[in-house]
Amino acid sequence: MQNHQKILFDCEISASTIKDNKGNCIGIRWLLRDITARKQAENKIRCVEMQNFKLQEAAQLKSQIVTVLSHELRTPLNAILGFSDILLRLNKNQFNSQSVKMVETIIRNGKQLLKLINNMLDFAKLEEGEFSLNLQYFNITELIRLIVDDLRFFANQKNINLDVNINIQNVKVFNDPIRIQQILTNLISNAIKFTETGSVLIELQELDEDKIIIIVKDTGIGISQIDLNHIFQAFRQANQTKSRCYQGTGLGLTIVKDLLDLMGGNITVESQLGEGSTFRVELPREVKLVNNQENQKNFHF
Ligand SMILES: Nc1ncnc2c1ncn2[C@@H]1O[C@H](COP(=O)(O)OP(=O)(O)O)[C@@H](O)[C@H]1O
Ligand SMILES: [Mg+2]
Repeated sequence: MQNHQKILFDCEISASTIKDNKGNCIGIRWLLRDITARKQAENKIRCVEMQNFKLQEAAQLKSQIVTVLSHELRTPLNAILGFSDILLRLNKNQFNSQSVKMVETIIRNGKQLLKLINNMLDFAKLEEGEFSLNLQYFNITELIRLIVDDLRFFANQKNINLDVNINIQNVKVFNDPIRIQQILTNLISNAIKFTETGSVLIELQELDEDKIIIIVKDTGIGISQIDLNHIFQAFRQANQTKSRCYQGTGLGLTIVKDLLDLMGGNITVESQLGEGSTFRVELPREVKLVNNQENQKNFHF
């Protein structure tokens, strides 16, 4: 329609017949309604929907790129690692010490690259909700001691004390031991990496019958209050310039948090710059299957 100022506008028209008491049609009632505001609101909603769709597509594409790249990188890398290992074992006596060191460097760097690729794969799977937990009963105390023994070498290298304090009656938990190892290795490696002097302490406690708590406490560089808000986000590192002198992608804590969400656990952190950090992981003693169908498909036994 056109208004008095000859400006076009969207209009909704409805018409109804007017009848006399005998039921004969004696006229038509027209109702014209300016629907410009409604049209504008509808357009806005359509725009937002379109933007959301594009964002979802971009996120999916990003995850697909990570997955494809990681698979394509992992296959040749496994060949490099496998053959370097064989090369070293078959020729250790013929190689001079410099050659041995070179092959060992290839293996060490290859392993580091593999760890990085595996992290990217885990991250992509967690983001897409395609992650599965392999649930079973195991002894949490034994697992923690094994993890700490694996990492002791790195603490010794930096002259840092690495202590374990276990205060738990019932050692049996129902969870995925590989993923618990991944969570704790990430936290303890961080604690060692960001501590120059002092100690790293791992504590295991029972909150109640159904919950356990694992605390990883260090006397390291600490995290500022501002950075504390970001460290669980993907690829985020506190004080980027400083962190660049520490190796890492900033994916570790994101994976830790996503895994804990899947397990029905959670993580909190307290820290003071220059004094150290304390990460506190709360876990159900037995990970429960969620009733929701959508979540159930994430669990495989
Ligand atoms: N124990 C810690 N002490 C100090 N800073 C930490 C500690 N743990 C994590 N951070 C900070 O959180 C950031 C993110 O950690 P993470 O996701 O494991 O990434 P990355 O170890 O690859 O840098 C780290 O870069 C660091 O800035
Ligand atoms: Mg890390």
